[in-house]
Amino acid sequence: MAHAASKLDPAAFTDYLAAQERKGLLRFLTCGSVDDGKSTLIGRLLYDSKLIFEDQLLTLERDSRKHGTTGEDFDFALLVDGLEAEREQGITIDVAYRFFTTEKRKFIVADTPGHEQYTRNMATGASTADLAVLLVDARFGVVTQTRRHAFIASLLGIRHVVLAVNKIDLVDFDQARYDAIRKDFETFAASFGFDTQVAIPISARFGDNVTTRSDRTPWYTGPILIEHLETVEVGDDLKSRPFRMSVQWVNRPNLDFRGFSGTIASGSVRPGDSVVAATSGRRSTVKRIVTMDGDLTEAHAGEAVTLTLADEIDLSRGDVIAAADARPEVTDQFAAHVVWMSDAPLFPGRPYLIKVGTKTVTGSVTEIKHKVDVNTFEHLAAKELHLNEVGFCNLSLSAPIAFDPYEANRETGSFIVIDRLTNATVAAGMIWFGLRRATNIHLQAIDTGKIARAALKGQHPAILWFTGLSGSGKSTIANLVEKRLHSMGRHTYVLDGDNVRHGLNRDLGFTDADRVENIRRVAETAKLFVDAGLIVLVSFISPFRAERRMARDLVEDGEFVEVYVDTPIEICRQRDPKGLYAKAEAGQIKNFTGIDSPYEAPEQAEIHLMTSQATAEMAAERVVDYLREHRLID
Ligand code: ADX
Repeated sequence: MAHAASKLDPAAFTDYLAAQERKGLLRFLTCGSVDDGKSTLIGRLLYDSKLIFEDQLLTLERDSRKHGTTGEDFDFALLVDGLEAEREQGITIDVAYRFFTTEKRKFIVADTPGHEQYTRNMATGASTADLAVLLVDARFGVVTQTRRHAFIASLLGIRHVVLAVNKIDLVDFDQARYDAIRKDFETFAASFGFDTQVAIPISARFGDNVTTRSDRTPWYTGPILIEHLETVEVGDDLKSRPFRMSVQWVNRPNLDFRGFSGTIASGSVRPGDSVVAATSGRRSTVKRIVTMDGDLTEAHAGEAVTLTLADEIDLSRGDVIAAADARPEVTDQFAAHVVWMSDAPLFPGRPYLIKVGTKTVTGSVTEIKHKVDVNTFEHLAAKELHLNEVGFCNLSLSAPIAFDPYEANRETGSFIVIDRLTNATVAAGMIWFGLRRATNIHLQAIDTGKIARAALKGQHPAILWFTGLSGSGKSTIANLVEKRLHSMGRHTYVLDGDNVRHGLNRDLGFTDADRVENIRRVAETAKLFVDAGLIVLVSFISPFRAERRMARDLVEDGEFVEVYVDTPIEICRQRDPKGLYAKAEAGQIKNFTGIDSPYEAPEQAEIHLMTSQATAEMAAERVVDYLREHRLID
């Protein structure tokens, strides 16, 4: 079964390469908990297919003595766990792709870590895989991780799974144990409707049923692992889907050439094909397929190309070029599964960056319809999503995107969610369907606009956003500022946390999720008042940077003035105007800002008021001065 291509003569080598080309490719991933033996299994597959070179073997022998956990034997895991840091921690922390080949097939295997917090890596490794090998330890059987991984694999569109019941040697090759695990697996996997699923008793360490049939499991008559991997029919092919290419950049070296560069996400393209710019609906025909090595007569999914079109149609980075007779859907609202991969939870209403193909837009989850219990697969109500949780959500975007349902196209139906402040990827998502509910609601053009309304009042509308701890003096200062503005003939309005929470927001408490919604509503209200031409003073703790940033982004540049009322918590505590700190410390109030709920201080507030060094009157005067200096009032 194994290959060694080194001694072939050139002609034979060409044949060899051609044969390699003809072989099918299976992409699979392995997943399991720490210590289930993923790395050992992959090491075993690589070793048995003789793709390890001799110098690597020597290193392995030496390293096994140094780090290994298997005594004098080779520790196959060391082949795979390349990184020194990982060895020292004894866990695998990144997705590693390995290539190996047998006479029948080529394989790319993604080794994904099993540690709970590394679900994101699994999602990364799985999105291109055809098959998942779920490893369990025969001593422990199916555990939460196994269910979670099977669930995520199915969400990611993987249609084939293998349950590798590893360390079967440690249960004395016991058939009853294997049978019990297989039944357990079949019961929970039934709901996923995988196209194929098999449970194979193996010992990755000793090789039983991995690449050779074991005589220690005579009761097992199913396929051994490599046989199954070599023969399973996976059949899904992005090439057979309709043509889609997300434009990475517009290539315009001179006035005579305008090409659209990108990687073909699915389907094929030929000169003469009718295509469409997915969002605008403008049509054209493909003129040339340009590459570094000359023009092509045809190009397929996975290839990076530059297309030129017969007509000058408006297309820019992020737009999707699609087959004119099979267009993707276009929407700014959709329902999707979201796999949350960040320590900071997902809150509905919080703005994130959503990246679909090469297009990035801002957007938020408007509603978590439910989250999924990974043990029972029950749907549970949820107000937020935590690390590793999976939710079915509605999302709303700031601009329309072109997409296909994930079921129809894994490439154009998936997205990632990026935190706007840290730039980290915090979630992966799979789109189920577009939501058309709101497409019949259009923004009304109103003739008397903000400028006209403000002009009548002789002022520039703005938001003065006071943020700070409870008892920091926000409301006191905001009141003084309003009084002054009022006496100057300015038109103002104060939105104050305590007051708004008696009306508009009386359904909200103080969990992080509720605070996000609290600020979202107040920011939208403040925006309406700005549109009415008013100077709005907002006085809310507003503890999170993300929501203050969202409020800022709702209005035009210069219209948002963040005022950080910076009072040390010790002083707020001493003042304790409402007696709330005393209660919070006595445990009578939960989630109290500064005590058991965080406050993220502004980093670049327009006005930073250190109240320990000035009276409230002086602080108010500074705000009014700022408004004058920046010509918001004259
Ligand atoms: S925010 O965090 O969501 O912006 P908001 O400004 O609306 O808070 O409300 C804060 C006010 O609610 C405080 O000034 C205080 O009077 C009151 N309050 C009651 N419980 C809490 C709590 N757990 N944390 C903070 N403030 C609380």
